[in-house]
Formats: sequence, structure tokens, C-alpha cells
Amino acid sequence: MTTQLSGQLALVTGAGRGIGRACAEGLAAAGARVVAVARSESDLAALAAHESGRIEAWPADVTDDGLWARIEALPDLSILVNNAGGNRPQAFVDVDPESLDFVLDLNVRAAFRVAQAAVRSMLASGTRGNIVHMSSQMGHVGSPKRTVYCMTKHAIEGLTKAMAVELAANGIRVNSVAPTFVETPLTKPMLDDPEFREFVFGMIPLGRLASIDDVVAAVMYLVSADAGMVTGHSLKIDGGWTAQ
Ligand SMILES: NC(=O)c1ccc[n+]([C@@H]2O[C@H](COP(=O)([O-])OP(=O)(O)OC[C@H]3O[C@@H](n4cnc5c(N)ncnc54)[C@H](OP(=O)(O)O)[C@@H]3O)[C@@H](O)[C@H]2O)c1
Repeated sequence: MTTQLSGQLALVTGAGRGIGRACAEGLAAAGARVVAVARSESDLAALAAHESGRIEAWPADVTDDGLWARIEALPDLSILVNNAGGNRPQAFVDVDPESLDFVLDLNVRAAFRVAQAAVRSMLASGTRGNIVHMSSQMGHVGSPKRTVYCMTKHAIEGLTKAMAVELAANGIRVNSVAPTFVETPLTKPMLDDPEFREFVFGMIPLGRLASIDDVVAAVMYLVSADAGMVTGHSLKIDGGWTAQ
């Protein structure tokens, strides 16, 4: 399947590194113009230089309401990959208020407001747009030291379904991608711990981590015309973790 997105404008949050960066590259390679959002200007500059002229860097924080206003003002947005997110693994009884607020604010509140701004833009232009939320397998199951992260990704699954139902009348499709562990700057420190790595591999029946390309392929499918009847869906890229 080759997705053709010529002429479409996509916005990817958390596009400086990891999964978001690869999504931005994949969308640009399919012909889309891409607005790439992250805080580190150097990461975005490297990305923009890499994909000849089709990626515009927006150094910004997704928790900042100035960004939400800027997204809402985009005249022709048709794709949002709502990817920025983070985790601070802690035992439930040790979760401190600052970490709780940090993860809730980034993974839930900012994701909601970015999606709201994107949909306002799509509704204003009458675009039958496409939203992909970056969830996680942890939006479907629980796991040790991940109460806050699991809570936020379950929230993303709820947001996906409710947005899909409400916005279907406007032709806007809303789905999520729910990967298992992928080695990125976010997870490398966790996966460097041999005991944790063994636990993770033991939980994945297919016996390997997801690759960034596995996740990008799911995003590219969901934004393509091939997925025209798919909305409110969570596409698990988990090697069977959640099937057990
Ligand atoms: N890696 C995995 O195993 C895995 C598995 C399932 C789901 N996910 C989900 O996939 C998404 C991306 O994960 P990743 O592993 O690619 O993370 P990553 O390697 O840590 O990259 C995160 C990106 O988001 C940006 N970002 C972080 N906070 C931001 C903020 N407040 N405003 C704007 N940009 C921000 C970072 O750049 P700056 O710091 O420069 O802003 C970076 O470009 C997350 O939602 C994560 O929950 C990851």
C-alpha cells in the first residue's frame, strides 16, 4: 500500500525525536506538507533539513495555549498525529503530585486541547479530516509502575471513541495507534535494564519490540483512503501483548 497525501497539510506533535519524527518523515514522503511541533529547535531543524522543504518546524510546547490558537488558525489542516506524550514510571504509592500533574497535563490535557484546536480548524474549512492519537498498549491493560501512564492512555482511548462518534457527521475520522514497547529516547533508559527488558520480551508473543516503522505503517494506513470506513478504532501494534 502506498499512501498518497499530496496537497494535504498534516500536523505532528512530538515530532523532534522517536515515533513522532518518523511519522513526520513518513507523511512528508507521501507528499503531505507537515507542521512539526516539539520544544527542541535543534531536533526540528535537523528534521526540516532532512525532508526537502515539506516540513515546517514549529518549536513550541503542546501544553501552551499559544500553540493551540496557532493550530486553530491553520486554514487547511487535514491530518493531526497527536503524538507528544511522556511517562514517569513510579510505584503507585510513590507517585508524587508533581509527576501526576506533569503526565496528566502532557498526555491528557494537552492532547485534548491540541485535538480540539485541530478539529476547530477542520470544521472552519469544511475539511473531512483525520486524527490519529498516539495511545499505547497501556491504554488497554495495566502494568507495574504505570498507573499514571495507563490512566492517561485509557483516557486517550475514551477520547478517540467519543470524538469519533461526535465528529463522524462532519466526515472527520478519529482513531488511535496503540504500540507495545518501541526503542526510542523515551524508553531506552527503561529497556537498558536487563530485568525489565526480559519482562517486556516475555510479554510479547511475537518475541520482539515494535519498530518505529511498524508504528508509522499503522499511522499511514489510518490516514489513508483505505481506512475510509475506520473510525473510533484502536490499532494495536503490540505483537500480541494485550491478546493474552
Ligand atoms: N516508545 C514507546 O515504547 C511507546 C510505546 C507506546 C506509546 N508511545 C507513545 O508514543 C508517543 C511518542 O513516544 P516516543 O517514545 O517517540 O517519545 P520520545 O522519544 O520521548 O519523543 C517525544 C517527542 O515529543 C516531544 N515532546 C515532549 N514533550 C513535549 C511538549 N511538552 N511539547 C512539545 N513536544 C514535546 C519531544 O521533544 P522535546 O522534548 O524537544 O519537546 C520529542 O520530540 C508518546 O505519546 C508515547 O506515550 C511510545
